[in-house]
Amino acid sequence: MKAIHYKQYGDLSQLEEVEIDRPKPTASQILVKVEASAINPIDWKLLSGSFRAIMPVKFPAIPGFDLAGEVIDVGAAVTQFRIGDRIYACQDIKQLGTAAEYTVVEEHLAALIPEGLSAGEAAGIPLAGLTALQGLRNCGGLNAGEHVLIVGGSGGVGHYALQIAKAMDTNVTAVCSTGNVEMVRDLGADTVIDYNKQTDFATDIKYDVVLDCVVKSPYKSFAAVMQADAVYVPALPSISFIIKSYLMPLYTKRRVKPVMLKTNGIDLNFLSNLVREGKLRTIIDSSYSLNEYYKAFERNQTGRTRGKIIINF
Ligand SMILES: NC(=O)c1ccc[n+]([C@@H]2O[C@H](COP(=O)([O-])OP(=O)(O)OC[C@H]3O[C@@H](n4cnc5c(N)ncnc54)[C@H](OP(=O)(O)O)[C@@H]3O)[C@@H](O)[C@H]2O)c1
Repeated sequence: MKAIHYKQYGDLSQLEEVEIDRPKPTASQILVKVEASAINPIDWKLLSGSFRAIMPVKFPAIPGFDLAGEVIDVGAAVTQFRIGDRIYACQDIKQLGTAAEYTVVEEHLAALIPEGLSAGEAAGIPLAGLTALQGLRNCGGLNAGEHVLIVGGSGGVGHYALQIAKAMDTNVTAVCSTGNVEMVRDLGADTVIDYNKQTDFATDIKYDVVLDCVVKSPYKSFAAVMQADAVYVPALPSISFIIKSYLMPLYTKRRVKPVMLKTNGIDLNFLSNLVREGKLRTIIDSSYSLNEYYKAFERNQTGRTRGKIIINF
């Protein structure tokens, strides 16, 4: 089968197209013919080696977490899926490997693709959609009727987050650049802050939850717009945020709770239901074929992705 791999940390020139053996599923895994995958910043951050201390990569490494495709074999202990099912999933961090024509995935990480969703639209959802859901619900503790600020509302995580927040009956303010204002309004944002026109986050709203998918502004820049017991959820769990998350309960009701995605099929099924109810959709920024993988990385590295970048097989 065809796959993209890299044999050492480095830049995009390390990506090579190779012909390798098809993987075989263990008892708890399913073998999937990949129809589409998606790009996430973690893919090229792992390649660069910048995460090697906390998330070392085993070489040769096939990048990619997101997959959508058809089940073509199942392990002996698999009970939920059958050959011919169309499934999607976010791979485990130790597995990666969705930039390949076939991949194996643990049964408990997968969910059936909702009827009517293309493979590309499905492939965009798992990693970014699960991060958005877990950031708002698990870390933010967001409740119906509350106000949430989503910084980076037009990106992969952000555009799912604002739709999930609307589905939770909350009031959403999204931050994006001028060119994306219409898109985030169309996805349901009640208020939009255009960061090309406004440099702070001030509106007449005090937020219960801030989901920061950009993490460029210091925490203190949000303090003026947060409720006294609000939660700030950064999508980049740096050491300083982790320290803050432990120290802040000692002196304030406010919390910092960095989101760290835990891939699982139960939450993915939750997102599938939102798709079925017409409350969650994927905006596709651009699509590439497997042999254009480096172009997809280049596009994502611009930091300007609107929705998701998809790899079609
Ligand atoms: N902790 C975890 O488990 C986890 C999981 C997933 C992702 N992440 C991290 O979360 C971050 C976001 O991921 P992603 O997939 O959403 O990235 P992405 O799709 O590449 O984000 C691109 C978006 O960011 C927006 N943006 C850039 N600068 C901005 C600014 N100053 N203010 C507002 N929006 C801005 C861009 O909009 P404009 O063009 O309008 O500026 C663009 O739409 C990444 O750092 C990623 O590594 C962490």
